[in-house]
Amino acid sequence: MKILSPSILSADFTRLGEDVKKSLDAGAQWVHIDVMDGMFVPQISFGNPVIKALRPTTDAVFDVHLMVEDPGRYIENFAKDGADIITVHAEACTHLDRVIQQIKACGKKPAVAINPATPLSVLDYVLDDLYMVLVMTVNPGFGGQSYIPYCTKKVRQLKEIIRERGLSTLIQVDGGISSKTIEEARDAGVDVFVSGSAVFGGDIEANVKTLLGMIS
Ligand code: DX5
Ligand code: ZN
Repeated sequence: MKILSPSILSADFTRLGEDVKKSLDAGAQWVHIDVMDGMFVPQISFGNPVIKALRPTTDAVFDVHLMVEDPGRYIENFAKDGADIITVHAEACTHLDRVIQQIKACGKKPAVAINPATPLSVLDYVLDDLYMVLVMTVNPGFGGQSYIPYCTKKVRQLKEIIRERGLSTLIQVDGGISSKTIEEARDAGVDVFVSGSAVFGGDIEANVKTLLGMIS
């Protein structure tokens, strides 16, 4: 099944709960939560209190994308506050294997994100342990950027590696996913589509339905 995971970074923060509910009622399955520390990426977004506040409002999967240096420092807190999937950047971890084990030890699903310029080879020895790989399709840090076309090739190559190894690891893309790009990503083998501005910009219900219609 193909999954749409709207990124709340582009939601209206003055009515965050309502926007999330609208996206889920329209059929989106997950909630993508972008945590930025102002170090790994230029911007600071929000952190644990926001996740904690949203958690009681829905049973939907919380897909927490940590754009944070040395994320191992925060895994237990995000697990406690309601994350279901915790995604860390390979580029932000000195001891990537240790952080993956930490996420598993908290009973959460581990995922690793790679920036556009990062090769798939960083995943060679850890792929079998991952629930999901996030192939970034923009340089992380801001919503509303354009999809980087060469990332499609990376998704195709990753899909082939997952198939060869007989794994069921999900492939997620994040950045510039809209009605203009989502089919290209779908055809390359993506399972989970993150979309921010194309969901929360304008009519949320209509946007979710359009995107879901293109992937299901
Ligand atoms: C980018 C974030 C994304 C972002 C996507 O750094 O990780 O999740 O919100 O936004 P759009 O879909 O507008 O590119
Ligand atoms: Zn994200």
